[in-house]
Amino acid sequence: MKHLNARAIHSADDARRLARRHLPWMVFDYIDGAAGTETGATRNRSALDAAVLRPRILKDVSARSFSASLFGTTTERPFGIAPMGMCNLSAPGADLMLARLAARYKVPHGVSTVASTPLEKILETADGHAWFQIYFSGDGAGTFKLIERARMAGYETLVLTVDVPEVGRRPRELRHGFKMPFRIGPRQFVDFALHPVWSLNMLFHGKPQMANFDMPGYDFDRTESRAAADWDTLARIRDAWPGHLVVKGVLDPEDAELLKENGVDAIQVSSHGARQLESAPSPFAQLPLIREAVGPDFPLFFDSGLRSGEDVLKVMQGGADFAFFGRILQFAIAAGGEAGLNTLWQVLSDELSIAMAQCGLTTPQ
Ligand code: FNR
Repeated sequence: MKHLNARAIHSADDARRLARRHLPWMVFDYIDGAAGTETGATRNRSALDAAVLRPRILKDVSARSFSASLFGTTTERPFGIAPMGMCNLSAPGADLMLARLAARYKVPHGVSTVASTPLEKILETADGHAWFQIYFSGDGAGTFKLIERARMAGYETLVLTVDVPEVGRRPRELRHGFKMPFRIGPRQFVDFALHPVWSLNMLFHGKPQMANFDMPGYDFDRTESRAAADWDTLARIRDAWPGHLVVKGVLDPEDAELLKENGVDAIQVSSHGARQLESAPSPFAQLPLIREAVGPDFPLFFDSGLRSGEDVLKVMQGGADFAFFGRILQFAIAAGGEAGLNTLWQVLSDELSIAMAQCGLTTPQ
């Protein structure tokens, strides 16, 4: 069944359509949803859709390369996996499916603070190709414990996400009463009953947990506010982290310049997949302005709204060194399991390869 679905994935839209059929409404709306009336998502998609690529001819594009250089390592694709919390909601074992994909293509797998699998296990499965994502919360005591734990586990790259001082208001989550752990009222009961394959799977494997908060000798308060982070916090994290430090969730060129001055190693331009501020500018529209602010050589990554290999080419032509996909990877898993994920990855790779050929390019940048 899952394999049949995997074969039906010829685009990210196919994956989303199939996922919508299989997932409870509550889970689909959690993954797919965005802030407010979702005009932020539309604004970014409109900017991406309006951008055109430049077709060029007679340039011998028979030998095309997908590899990219990231902090001295060579990846086999110029795109990776954005950090997402509670991925195992899309299917049991989703975190490890993503980790195996990262290992195979030597691309970074963003491991969320609120991942549903312990960070050590993901790093091991990803064969080292995992970056740990951190949210700063409360006075930082728990945050620094987690940072230390990631360092001890062998993580070399830390991604500090800075665009969640408060979690955005997402009406589609609120409508379903989406909360972790689930509260099963009558509405949720009907929702789960109407999606029996997903529900039985969860019953069998146990519902996903936030796996990184259980630390011996420390009681992590999951309700801590993330609002107190400031530039001093960044300096403390920079001091505590000897590896590469990426700051994710940047949309303003002035902030980007300041981050560069304050010693971060890379910036990820992102609107958190439009989940935070409905009225934020389109990250795709901001990308060239941020590239201009940080100069041509500073590592700049991009996520939000990417749905195809052509989108990857657009952001790389627009100034990004590397791109990340988010929710569509979860849709592929929900639709077709690990086979579905691999199929969508191949689709994205083919789309990029074909687009490069049409544009007379042998590398995406
Ligand atoms: C996210 N994202 C996210 N980012 C982060 O830094 N930490 C996190 O825990 C999460 N959790 C999360 C859950 C879900 C369900 C989604 C869809 C997204 C944001 C993510 O890293 C990335 O910025 C967006 O997903 C990119 O946009 P697209 O590709 O999903 O449109």
